Amino acid sequence: MIGIFDSGVGGICAYRKLRELLPGEDILYLADRKNAPYGTKTKDEILKFTKFNIKRLRALGAERILIACCTASTLYGELNHSEQEICTPIITPAAKIAGTLGQKTAVIATEHTAKSRAFSREIGRFSSFEVVEMAEQELVSLVERGNHDGRIDPECREYLRLLSERVFATGASSLILGCTHFSHLEGELSALLPHMKIISPACEGAKEIAKKVNPKHRECGRVVYM
Ligand code: DGL
Repeated sequence: MIGIFDSGVGGICAYRKLRELLPGEDILYLADRKNAPYGTKTKDEILKFTKFNIKRLRALGAERILIACCTASTLYGELNHSEQEICTPIITPAAKIAGTLGQKTAVIATEHTAKSRAFSREIGRFSSFEVVEMAEQELVSLVERGNHDGRIDPECREYLRLLSERVFATGASSLILGCTHFSHLEGELSALLPHMKIISPACEGAKEIAKKVNPKHRECGRVVYM
């Protein structure tokens, strides 16, 4: 069984990709709504929530865990060996794609993730091109408020319009959706920024964990949401 966690609905995008790749796998999805949003919390608080989520998912039988939250993934290096062994963070696979493109990259993320410069560091392992990290915490609340799956209210539409202007002004050729909540807005953002390559850590993280699992030969695994 694979465990997935996020502070809310962001990880659903990773869940959908994982389900497509591993239809027979049992999946446990934990949305830590009680402590959301993560992006405005201190490093120590986010680490505490992350460790607790891992412990809970493990206790419920998860053999592998996808940290479907970029904010929590910035602290992967602070986890102990046994936690690291079963967890797949989502920053590295996305950074690798951006880095190997060899172009300037823009990253939209939570306050914590942007401040941590985790994407810049990871992309820097693969490329020397500039990385611009933008904190867009407000977009997390807009998504949690129901702006996803094609339903976009006027406030969110306007936010996305202004955001696309700011992203365009960076001169970057690729855009990382550095908070899994933003993957829910991938369609809208790619329509506003058609010239940019959009990279979704939620999706890349799901591909990464799927590589480590032997597919079960049955049609439909179970899913439990917590
Ligand atoms: N979806 C999360 C992320 O990828 C966290 C959003 C939040 O709770 O601030 O960073």
